[in-house]
Amino acid sequence: MNIGIDKMGFYSPHLYVDMNELAISRDVDPGKFTVGIGQEKMAVAPLTQDPVSLAANAALEILDETDQEKIDLVIVGTESGVDHSKSIATYIHPLLGLNPQARAFEIKQACYGATAGLQMAKGHIALHPDSKVLVIGTDIARYGLRSSGEVTQGAGAVAMLISREPRVLRLEEHHAYHTEDIMDFWRPTYAENAFVDGKFSNEQYISFFNRVWEQYKAASHLKLAEYEAICFHMPYTKMGLKALRTILEETDEANRDRLLANYEVSKTFNKNIGNIYTASLYLSLLSLLENQEGLPAGARIGMYSYGSGAVGEFFSGILQPDYQKQLHIQRHADLFASRKEISVTEYEEIFQQMLPADGSKADLAINEDPADIVLAGIEHHVRQYVNKKQ
Ligand code: HMG
Repeated sequence: MNIGIDKMGFYSPHLYVDMNELAISRDVDPGKFTVGIGQEKMAVAPLTQDPVSLAANAALEILDETDQEKIDLVIVGTESGVDHSKSIATYIHPLLGLNPQARAFEIKQACYGATAGLQMAKGHIALHPDSKVLVIGTDIARYGLRSSGEVTQGAGAVAMLISREPRVLRLEEHHAYHTEDIMDFWRPTYAENAFVDGKFSNEQYISFFNRVWEQYKAASHLKLAEYEAICFHMPYTKMGLKALRTILEETDEANRDRLLANYEVSKTFNKNIGNIYTASLYLSLLSLLENQEGLPAGARIGMYSYGSGAVGEFFSGILQPDYQKQLHIQRHADLFASRKEISVTEYEEIFQQMLPADGSKADLAINEDPADIVLAGIEHHVRQYVNKKQ
């Protein structure tokens, strides 16, 4: 049975900081942020956007009535969940008008969460061919003001509808994955911001990639030349390129040029959003599909997922005929075009804003946020969401 991605949705908050401005205010040469790290703009989430609303907004744009009825499994991958107990998957259920006869849960393994969800969805469809699964990666990446990871923050979500006879990307049967207990990046339950061993995390990202790439080659007998493009988890856009370069000698110049050109396109959205952890790999896929004209149906796309801590996985998919019809190219172009630049001072103020944690009531200025689904406030420790369209 053919199983894979049938639809893809994306959402990111309407505010951003320019990386040149951030560099100047941090007394760093802007070239380090824009070339050395490869980031141009960083999405900033106001209090009215949290990982729940981001996830719901990303899914809202792709679901029709049949999907709402047929989805019987909702999996949200995140590492910035808003509750130790209640899952984002349950919060978004009513916001999206989904059929209550569904399983819903949240899944965590750093940036690997959405990939774990995608592979579970594949197994679920194999057992229940008529059902559909909603898989979402949603995150707000926080390293802290003036930290070395600050330039790699971001906020956003990607939603994917998984079904049989998918119209975007059919997942191939082979897998290669690897797990090790390492401390390259983590966030203890008491911490608002992540802890990271930056250089070690870079090394591990590449080492895991090399390992699963070799495993995948052995399992699939596929050569690098047989890939139209490889999409990478993108904590920052230079990272995937460093990994890709380690295998380029396996093919000839023409193939190398194609893979490098497609890598450039696959980072178009990511360099303007920042790291969105669980959704970054899928944002890079969306970036490739929506910005590269002429990708042929039948083309093979490789996918490298890495979640610190750490789990790495390589898998691949085949582009389906007329996949472009399933995309929302104009809507996403409008989303980027309508964003508002804020100053570094405004970003710092937003970064430090927190919801009350003592049970008191807060009403947020939802009219300042153009998103359909917003966090309107909190009362008695209960987050209040509004879908302006309902
Ligand atoms: P840093 O120490 O600030 O930067 O940390 P650097 O000194 O290593 O410089 C970065 C690059 O800029 C270097 O290039 C410099 O040469 C270059 P490279 O050698 O790497 O090719 N550079 C310049 N280029 C042009 N003009 C200039 C200039 N100056 C310097 N003037 C680091 C950078 C990424 C380590 C830091 O930002 C960090 O810790 N980020 C967070 C961790 C991270 O993103 N790790 C990635 C792998 S782990 C992962 O992907 C998982 C993750 O997503 C979490 C999860 O799974 O949940 C993070």
